[in-house]
Amino acid sequence: MNDMTTIDRTQRAYSAAAQAFLARKPALFINNEWVSSSHDQTIPVEDPSSGKIIGHAVDASDKDVDRAVAAARAAFDDGRWSGLPPMVRERTMIRLADLIEANADELAELEAIDNGKPKTMAGAVDVPGAASHIRFMAGWASKVNGEVVSPYTMPGGTVFGYTTKEPVGVCAQIVPWNFPLLMACLKIAPALAAGCTTVLKPAEQTSLTALRLADLIAEAGFPAGVVNIITGNGHTAGDRMVKHPDVDKVAFTGSTEIGKLINKNATDSLKRVTLELGGKSPVVIMPDVDVAAVAPGAAGAIFFNSGQVCVAGSRIYAHRSIFDEVIEGIAATTPFWAPRASLDPEAHMGPLVSKEQFDRVMGYIEAGKRDGASVAVGGDAAASDGGYYVNPTVLVDVNPQMSVVREEIFGPVVVAQRFDDIDEVAKAANDTCFGLGAGIWTKDVATMHKLASRIKSGTVWGNCHAVIDTALPFGGFKESGLGREQGRQGIEAYMETKTVIIQL
Ligand code: NAI
Ligand code: MG
Repeated sequence: MNDMTTIDRTQRAYSAAAQAFLARKPALFINNEWVSSSHDQTIPVEDPSSGKIIGHAVDASDKDVDRAVAAARAAFDDGRWSGLPPMVRERTMIRLADLIEANADELAELEAIDNGKPKTMAGAVDVPGAASHIRFMAGWASKVNGEVVSPYTMPGGTVFGYTTKEPVGVCAQIVPWNFPLLMACLKIAPALAAGCTTVLKPAEQTSLTALRLADLIAEAGFPAGVVNIITGNGHTAGDRMVKHPDVDKVAFTGSTEIGKLINKNATDSLKRVTLELGGKSPVVIMPDVDVAAVAPGAAGAIFFNSGQVCVAGSRIYAHRSIFDEVIEGIAATTPFWAPRASLDPEAHMGPLVSKEQFDRVMGYIEAGKRDGASVAVGGDAAASDGGYYVNPTVLVDVNPQMSVVREEIFGPVVVAQRFDDIDEVAKAANDTCFGLGAGIWTKDVATMHKLASRIKSGTVWGNCHAVIDTALPFGGFKESGLGREQGRQGIEAYMETKTVIIQL
């Protein structure tokens, strides 16, 4: 793998637009205005491709959170958003989607320098995905209706019963660092379509694109206070948002550990909660496949976004008869996935997001080795002058008790195991506390459907992986989450159903 160690991982120069953005004074977006924090604490903005601090964002204080929630509360309570004709809400959202597309290049660059993902990937996946979530949900604003229901237990004709859908209210939306802009838009879109108002907080590692999004929200013409964007730490600002008495709903994407904590903290006032949490998604490869075609798919399932994906295909189960061939096929893709600086146009995989994540992932690789796993591919950091690069890694000779098999690593590390028959692999695939995604690779239609029904996960992919479409519901079984986002279910998670019964 000489070609992987000789790569120059020096980060490229930023564009003038990105430099100007980074030079802005740290501020919060509340009531459609940029406002200063009540204190002078900030969080550093780091480029994980170089490990350099490139700017600062506000670390929101309790007072800042209260101010943002108060703005969202006022904007909800006076109906300045929910009271608009649905098609006006829809049009405003579509303007935002248009603005995201018009600023796609700058957004992709900011994402790349903040998160470490290749700019080309941010431009191909994150930015268009962000616009799609808003466009799709915009249409629901004018299309979610209640029903007229004839009551069963009353004598016919004596009462008139119907349901209406009402926005839940003020939302606290907390997103992680792996797809910062995409997650921010995925969160605000159904809230806005439903008529809710929101306070959104990006992860402390990745504030930039959410702040740039705030500019576009003001430009799109949303009334003041409908979307408020604050930056800051999770255990302080995030915690305050979740516990705030004026918040009606919490939507969170992130670790299972924090998801459970948030669910507890939101319980006192019975806030509505949706959680999109971790995973350890199996990728089952049946013996009938064309291995040369499937191995790159299995590699992409784990190495895309440096494996920092909730549905990353982090457990490969390949049939014994093709196991070695699958591992060789994945090994052959590693020059393609060799980590590079995010602004390198040849990059397909970047560094990990932070030193913390780098240490966590390297720690898992070491634990795997200690437990007896063998490194079939990678297993080490990539040479660089700063930055958090881990080489694509495949671990074999693992068993179901090892931490590398049980826990979410969130890095470019996959464990591969053999199986002999379909019952065995269905059981192994489900031997996890998670249930977010699963991939099945086979040409046999019956096998595909049988396995799809047996695997306990919110999404099952057949002959592909991590294909996400805003029209299709997404969420987790078991400890991978609560509720569903996207699709019709996605907007319904931001609405209450009211039943009206009128004696005639
Ligand atoms: P995290 O769950 O701590 O952070 C995610 C978001 O939650 C951030 O915006 C953070 O500010 C916020 N947060 C943290 N503590 C909070 C609290 N007490 N109350 C309210 N908000 C809070 O995830 P972290 O620490 O960045 O990553 C740790 C691990 O979590 C990763 O290694 C990975 O396994 C997993 N993870 C999973 C994600 C997914 O998409 N399923 C995304 C990010 C991390
Ligand atoms: Mg954390």
